[in-house]
Amino acid sequence: MSNAVDGLEGVVAAETVLSEVDGDAGRLLIRGHDLDALAGRWRFESVTSLLWDGFFPSLPTDLARPLGDARVAVFQSLAGAPDLLQRPAVEAVRALIARLPDGDDWDLALQLVAAPAVFTAAVVRARAGEAPVAPDPTLGHAADILRMTRGAAASAAESAALDAYLVTVADHGLNASTFAARVVASTRAGLTSAVLAGLSALKGPLHGGAPGPVIDMLDGIGTPENARPWLEAALDRGDRLMGFGHRVYRVRDPRADALKRAVAALGAGSAAAPGRLALAEAVEAAALAILRERKPGRSLQTNVELYTALLLEALAFPPETFTCMFAMGRASGWIAHAREQLAGGRLVRPQSRYVGPRPHLAA
Ligand code: ACO
Repeated sequence: MSNAVDGLEGVVAAETVLSEVDGDAGRLLIRGHDLDALAGRWRFESVTSLLWDGFFPSLPTDLARPLGDARVAVFQSLAGAPDLLQRPAVEAVRALIARLPDGDDWDLALQLVAAPAVFTAAVVRARAGEAPVAPDPTLGHAADILRMTRGAAASAAESAALDAYLVTVADHGLNASTFAARVVASTRAGLTSAVLAGLSALKGPLHGGAPGPVIDMLDGIGTPENARPWLEAALDRGDRLMGFGHRVYRVRDPRADALKRAVAALGAGSAAAPGRLALAEAVEAAALAILRERKPGRSLQTNVELYTALLLEALAFPPETFTCMFAMGRASGWIAHAREQLAGGRLVRPQSRYVGPRPHLAA
């Protein structure tokens, strides 16, 4: 009889001090802090310090300038790799990260956080035929990401919105990409390998690849009145509605509200078309109603990706880069988990149950 757990649902595969996802209460705790106490209040650098505290010897308390210096170091590695910038955004960023050395020290860890930011900005500029913009190590991480992408300073409100996004996605229990990162870390392969594993898992549309398709959905729907027929037709085709459903949350994902607040706070500073937030709210209401009707046995709620798409669009990032943006924040979490795994965990090596033919039954 099989005791394999499909999708490892409900299996506790690690103990962590980093974050707790309470799927029934709709609560995310990051090292003792509720998400609402961090998002929109703390800077990403401070949340990275919080996550990494105790996992690296002699880690500086204030990571703002060291992370700025890491952006500068990583930017230098762009030289000699212009062809890679022409590849699809996630592939380009992954290939560029793979050129960094492997190791376990905090200098490298900061470069691995800086890397998705510097490389994604360079990809965006390459698409427009423009040269990469060198980092300014004196700026905050979010402000410099916007500056490196646009070649001009962003407003304080835009930097704050991006900071809120990076903080919101920095860590989230044992999600698929973090698990992948921990498995690789458990083999003692090094932090670069762990981050590459995390990014590769993140790329899929069921995980961090969902917000790009959310934009396609909103564009396809176009007007609030078209939401129900469009969504019904998508489900009739057997499609999943991107930005809805979650393995752990049975109530609304708390990250959705943190990001919705950040979108609303941008107000007139948003690069999105007028009425976009209202359209998203109409689509959300219609989708939740239809999912309730069609899947009465399963509580399918809004997840982080619906308002991720809205926020990143409002900050003028192209949908192609949305998964890379996610990696900019989640890299801190992957690295914290990799170090935690290395500090206390054994090699991750579960069992499979063989259900194939036996020699005497094979043709
Ligand atoms: N749209 C339509 N139906 C859905 C959706 C959805 N978004 N999500 C789940 N379902 C249905 C499934 O079809 C399935 O129905 P069935 O039992 O009749 O076959 C049932 O709900 C359960 O689905 P599972 O795939 O078993 O649930 P799981 O926990 O594995 O899925 C997941 C979680 C992958 C996030 C899923 O909800 C999904 O595909 N959502 C859309 C993609 C998305 O938004 N991903 C981002 C998630 S957040 C993140 O990773 C950062």
